[in-house]
Amino acid sequence: MFSSRIPANLSLNPLTAAVRAARAGGRPFVDLTESNPTRAGFDYPPNLLAPLSDVRGLHYAPSPLGAIEARCAIAADYERQGVPVAAGRIALTASTSDAYSLLFKLLANADDEVLVPRPSYPLFDHLTRLDIVMPRHYDLDLHGAWSIDFPSLERAITSRTRAVLIVSPNNPTGSFISADELDRLAAICAPRSIAIIADEVFADYELEAGAAGRAGRAAARRDVLSFVLGGLSKSIGLPQAKLGWIAVGGPDPLAAAALDRLELICDTYLAVSTPVQLAAATLLERGAAIRRAIASRIQANYRALQASVARTPSCRVVPSAGGWYAVLQVPSLETEEDLVLRLLADGVLTHPGYFFDFPRESFLIVSLLPPEATFADGLSRVLRHFDCSMGGQ
Ligand SMILES: Cc1ncc(COP(=O)(O)O)c(C=O)c1O
Repeated sequence: MFSSRIPANLSLNPLTAAVRAARAGGRPFVDLTESNPTRAGFDYPPNLLAPLSDVRGLHYAPSPLGAIEARCAIAADYERQGVPVAAGRIALTASTSDAYSLLFKLLANADDEVLVPRPSYPLFDHLTRLDIVMPRHYDLDLHGAWSIDFPSLERAITSRTRAVLIVSPNNPTGSFISADELDRLAAICAPRSIAIIADEVFADYELEAGAAGRAGRAAARRDVLSFVLGGLSKSIGLPQAKLGWIAVGGPDPLAAAALDRLELICDTYLAVSTPVQLAAATLLERGAAIRRAIASRIQANYRALQASVARTPSCRVVPSAGGWYAVLQVPSLETEEDLVLRLLADGVLTHPGYFFDFPRESFLIVSLLPPEATFADGLSRVLRHFDCSMGGQ
């Protein structure tokens, strides 16, 4: 009765099942996987969402690509980042996930392929399959820092490849795509009519000074059709506002053809609420304070992580240049799954590397969002497993 876009097996993985059991049993734990900024103890001004009650929102005048004032506000936000994007090349979406779905409809027929980085964001499996697009992986290599393994990318290309996804900075490796890598990718994609989809939701968040400024930015390119994704979810820590966007880069005629077709798809769903479109400019302006608070929190936690791990010789922090997560390489004394279950039993929740398709074990992924004291508590519970001097095994 149900489509095969949905996984056949809906049972919980052992970690999720253990988390539910801990919650049901009232066993507290420090959550070092928290990715919801509204649960991470930031002081959101109580009236932050007041712009959503603009009386103009009582009138419904749908515009498929979005209200022009919101698109201008987003163009101005790109300018803040030093990336020139015309408002006419921006389409509003309900979220980044929504944007992926629109783009797969725009670019791919059933069973066409998109290339997905590995390791990366686990939702890509669902996002592609729900739109009947096949994900094929290319690798990111770790040689001190992460970079695209171009031979693996070229091997993954077939006549059915419609797009290459990049995430910059990537979740969870924290690597930005470099300007050279983007040049090389554009030279591979443009002649084959393959589009680039660049997920830049974390572009504002640096862990290494200057990393964002040095990154390649696809929205500014004129040589390859590119779709750059962003949203309020990360840029001002408001996932519940449900406003994302697609900025279209590429040669004028191709970008115009893509926008005409995107307009038709968006017109079919009209998914973005009028109040959030009217509020977008003010939210972006007022939300800058939240962005600064998140940036300073993740940087403080990342420094604390580096300092603590430096005292635990068997572990190391895999260098991260940006984003909300950090990667810890730990000894492979047991499987990652056994390790994260044991850590949970000891009162701290982390994610195993295999959730993100790391090429080998053992890696732990931690969120840098929790309040500093919570983060330090959780981290000490992790590290004592690997350091005899801290009372672990
Ligand atoms: C790389 C990446 N893209 C997109 C999203 C989702 O963003 P949105 O809330 O706009 O759908 C996330 C959420 O964690 C993410 O990590």
